[in-house]
Amino acid sequence: MRRGSRARPGPTPASLEHAITTEDFRSAAHTAADLVSDHLAGLPARPVWQPMDEAARQALLDAPLPAEGRPLAALLDAIGTDVLPHPMGNGHPRFFGWVNSAPAPAGVLATLAASAMNPSTAGGDHADVHLERAVVRWIAELVDFPHPPGGGLLTSGASMATIVCLAAARNRAARLAGRDVREEGLAGMPPLVGYVTGETHSCVRKAAELLGLGSRHLRTVATGPDGRLDTADLRAAVERDRAAGLLPFLVVASAGTVGTGAVDAFEPIADLCEEQRLWLHVDGAYGAFGRLDPAIAHRYAGLERADSLALDPHKWLGVPVDCGCALVRDTEELRATFSLVPSYLRDESAGSLGWFSEYGTEQTRPFRALKVWATIAHRGRSGLARDITRCTVLARQLGELVRADDELELLAEVQTSIVAFRHRAPGLDTAARDALNRAVAPAVQRRGRVFVTGARLGDHEMLRACLLNAATTEDDLRLLLAEVKAAARELMS
Ligand SMILES: Cc1ncc(COP(=O)(O)O)c(C=O)c1O
Repeated sequence: MRRGSRARPGPTPASLEHAITTEDFRSAAHTAADLVSDHLAGLPARPVWQPMDEAARQALLDAPLPAEGRPLAALLDAIGTDVLPHPMGNGHPRFFGWVNSAPAPAGVLATLAASAMNPSTAGGDHADVHLERAVVRWIAELVDFPHPPGGGLLTSGASMATIVCLAAARNRAARLAGRDVREEGLAGMPPLVGYVTGETHSCVRKAAELLGLGSRHLRTVATGPDGRLDTADLRAAVERDRAAGLLPFLVVASAGTVGTGAVDAFEPIADLCEEQRLWLHVDGAYGAFGRLDPAIAHRYAGLERADSLALDPHKWLGVPVDCGCALVRDTEELRATFSLVPSYLRDESAGSLGWFSEYGTEQTRPFRALKVWATIAHRGRSGLARDITRCTVLARQLGELVRADDELELLAEVQTSIVAFRHRAPGLDTAARDALNRAVAPAVQRRGRVFVTGARLGDHEMLRACLLNAATTEDDLRLLLAEVKAAARELMS
């Protein structure tokens, strides 16, 4: 500096500009806790869901990139006024749509702590890694699935868990056919063929497409009147494909279909898979935790014989989104499918189980385990079993209410906690009845008192109510049916 010149303040160093004092953070965290508590407490008194008004929607869509930052308190204000008032509806006890649950409060709290730690749950010696190994074992124990160390991992959801499991199935099938699919791909091999039913979730077809299997090599096997896979038809299809020189390798069974909640008969399917050396994958995304209910546990007999199981703690357990889980019986099969450890990822401390990326697709992974740990530890096995049992009891009650109602028709036995039904639409022909039932769900949703969704079952439109919330009451069930009938009457007039 020249003698006599005055020191001018330089730009604020970035590190100081970002600095938030502990007190600022603590005070904002208290505000956030109040905001979230008020939001959760206020849900039951609000409409389940309402369309966003145009101005509120556009304000979010057109939000300009902020040129300058705002204090934490202002961000929380914006969340309180622009975001929290417009929920999807799944926190509400009268939400019966799709397969989306209310968040478990313990899981909500754990999410804050997990993001404060912000690890990459990839490998190494830190709490998140060990906790993930523990909760994956807990999940396996909850559904009575065998769990060798390393035999699974948490994923973003069941769609990703399905990709993980089917990749392992493909790897084994190719190896048995003398092919290293990781090195050589599938080109030139006879097609690998998988077997599903018309009720199998679309994530299975997506996985098959992504894995290069080709959706045309997924055979749709017949189901019985109970919606369960017909093992005789499966056997016939496998034999046909073998005779044609193809390579049957995979059967996908369901522990709760998304349409009606049907649980396949695992024992005969597992017998056939063992005999024919087929990989048995079970989609338990929605329904596998139903095994905790003593009244329906028998439906799941043989689930433990599957080679792999995809589940979704973010469905019936209420773990805040996102959290799926892939369980695979043969750990080495999974590791052989995914393990790739370049030198820059060497981790001498990772121990014999290695990185999670050796068992799945992701390298940097979020700390999902803490919200799973908190959700399960808060309720315990018995609390979870009571919640799940309550949902299946409510679902059977809803089934009975539908059965007793002349305007409505129950379309499937209630096996788990999904009730498939429709409005009879007296006086309308088949096409008009389908059109009416298709229109009912959005009409009910707009009325705001309950939320239900529709789907196709076979060739027809139906409404499906999925019960995942133990806080739902019998009055809520009556209101659901009253709303469906009121919406149908409005549409018919
Ligand atoms: C039976 C079933 N399988 C798979 C999935 C896909 O799961 P995710 O949405 O977690 O990827 C769902 C989602 O609803 C489902 O109900």
